[in-house]
Amino acid sequence: MTTLAELSDDFTSLSEAAIDHLVRLTASWSLLADLSFSDMVLVAPDENSGGHEEFVVLGQVRPNNRSTLIVDDLIGSVQPSSQWPLVKLAFEGGKRCVGEVSIPARDGAVPVWCIPVRFDGRVIAVLVRLQGPLRGPASLYEQAYLSIFERLCSMVSDATFPYREDTVAGPGMPRVGDGIILTNGLGQVEFATPNATNALHRLSVYAATEGKTLTEMGLRLRVVERSLEYGIPAMEEVDRSHDVSILFHCVPLFDHGAVTGVVVLLRDVSDLRQLNRVVLNKEAAVREVHHRVKNNLQTISSLLRLQARRSDEHDTVVALQEAERRVRSIAVVHEVLSREPGEEVVFDEIVRSVVLLVEDTVLALHPVEIVVNGDLGTLPTDLATPLALALTELLTNAVEHAFVDFGGPDNEHVGVVTLDLSLEGECAVAEIRDNGRGLEDDFNLDVATSLGLSIVRDLVRSQLNGSIEMTSVPYSDGGGTLIRVVVPTELAS
Ligand SMILES: Nc1ncnc2c1ncn2[C@@H]1O[C@H](COP(=O)(O)OP(=O)(O)O)[C@@H](O)[C@H]1O
Ligand SMILES: [Mg+2]
Repeated sequence: MTTLAELSDDFTSLSEAAIDHLVRLTASWSLLADLSFSDMVLVAPDENSGGHEEFVVLGQVRPNNRSTLIVDDLIGSVQPSSQWPLVKLAFEGGKRCVGEVSIPARDGAVPVWCIPVRFDGRVIAVLVRLQGPLRGPASLYEQAYLSIFERLCSMVSDATFPYREDTVAGPGMPRVGDGIILTNGLGQVEFATPNATNALHRLSVYAATEGKTLTEMGLRLRVVERSLEYGIPAMEEVDRSHDVSILFHCVPLFDHGAVTGVVVLLRDVSDLRQLNRVVLNKEAAVREVHHRVKNNLQTISSLLRLQARRSDEHDTVVALQEAERRVRSIAVVHEVLSREPGEEVVFDEIVRSVVLLVEDTVLALHPVEIVVNGDLGTLPTDLATPLALALTELLTNAVEHAFVDFGGPDNEHVGVVTLDLSLEGECAVAEIRDNGRGLEDDFNLDVATSLGLSIVRDLVRSQLNGSIEMTSVPYSDGGGTLIRVVVPTELAS
């Protein structure tokens, strides 16, 4: 798609400031199209043709409240001025030219206005308006819309529209159909559309509107005054209790340099604000759920700890302690999620808690240093829990087994366990390395029946679709055990 700026560069010799003026005009002109129920195109002489023999279409907009008369995309097309005599007349004469044209989509003639667009004292383009058929005679409101439109057209030719400060139409902004109030130069209401009246009712304003200012009607807002005083567009939102929010957008009207009125576009944004609140509430609810899950898991782990203390059997004590540790490592993930609920979780925070947990449970028995390098950024939450549990098992094993009977009590050997985390392509990679005694010669991960490694195997291979390798590092390379876990970061659902 070609932009207005690109077309202006290619076809015209307009200055940057002039092009900017046209860009701002087209950013605001859906207001004009809606007020006049018309299709609009913006044209300028094609300088390549020499003189004003051809005109190029720089922009096109359709009304939101009527069906269009121009089905084709005209942007970038060039027309000989013999086809568009009124355009040429308006451009050269600097005056609005009104007439009729016949267009392919319609039988019979269609009213057309050619409005010169002035900037810096010079006509730089022509705004062409093709008016669609009115449904019967114009209603009171349609007449009012058209009269506002006419005033804005004069402003286009006087270079007071578009505004320098702000655009007055666009996503999220009130549109003509949402409701309009027109005030005079004193801010007194001249008329209000039914939608505007409804919006005022929602703010508990039932007084007759005509002849009064919005402030006199009991509305506490400053935008109308601000618009009148400074001659700039301005927006303000008015809330009543918790559930009603109305957006007021004021567009000043100029006549020969003086502000003579304000068009107030109103939009009921209550549903939108409500929705925001619901989303916020939902987030709080998710947070709360994680918080409760975490609390429940902590309760379970306390129960297991109590039970372990009451047992005389060493094996039972160990089994219960391990179960407790596993429950706590799951709680860690919910703890992090209760602070930052979402589809993704910062895994770094989980790693930190997991390391603290391992230090807490086994380091008292085996003074070993745990070093973490790198991080995995944010990971999907469904991946975080199994991965956290697997890392807890593997780190615990390293601390628990690697240094048993290794070196003897007088040995100077300092036990170090490193956890290296990195992302390789679409995979998260965790390498756990210790400088301990290494694995038994006949060790085989695939046949290990012990609980810890069975859990890890199941988590990494079945749940996470990943792979795990455990190898003894040759003594010449520092010895110990190296475990490499690779899991895809996008879980196939
Ligand atoms: N880093 C390691 N260094 C040496 N041996 C290990 C290491 N990790 C695991 N092992 C061996 O693998 C065995 C199985 O581990 P695991 O399944 O977690 O059971 P448990 O920790 O309850 O003994 C351990 O008993 C230990 O002999
Ligand atoms: Mg273990």
